[in-house]
Amino acid sequence: MPRVLVTAALVLVCTGALAEVPAARRGELANLIRHDCGSCHGLTLRGGLGPALTPDALRGRSPADVRRVIRDGLPGTAMPPWRGLLSEDELEWITGELLAGTVADDS
Ligand code: HEC
Repeated sequence: MPRVLVTAALVLVCTGALAEVPAARRGELANLIRHDCGSCHGLTLRGGLGPALTPDALRGRSPADVRRVIRDGLPGTAMPPWRGLLSEDELEWITGELLAGTVADDS
């Protein structure tokens, strides 16, 4: 395999491992995104009371910014803080799912 492919594969493996969330918990979090977040943002995350959370809608936003909104909520709006309910790894995983669009796609 050319060296550049090996490097790309390694980078993929490493980014996947960044948010250390066990497989079983990932399933629960995917449900949380669809149902809890979905209750305001729409079951397919295309918007409802809250704005769409699709990759298109979030284009240009940094992962750190999206993660902060989920962690701290948006005071003065209906967007609640999730920090007591989700660990930092879980927040990171959910942010990655939203920016990649994976959860909404397989619902
Ligand atoms: C009770 C309703 C409600 C729930 C539940 C909720 N949100 Fe929100 N969310 C909102 C509203 C309303 C806004 C927009 C606030 C504003 O800027 O006026 C928002 C904004 C956001 C934003 C910022 C979007 C942008 O384009 O700036 C993100 C990201 C977000 N929510 C993620 C989540 C995630 C992830 C969950 C589940 C863990 C969740 N929300 C659950 C109501 C909700």
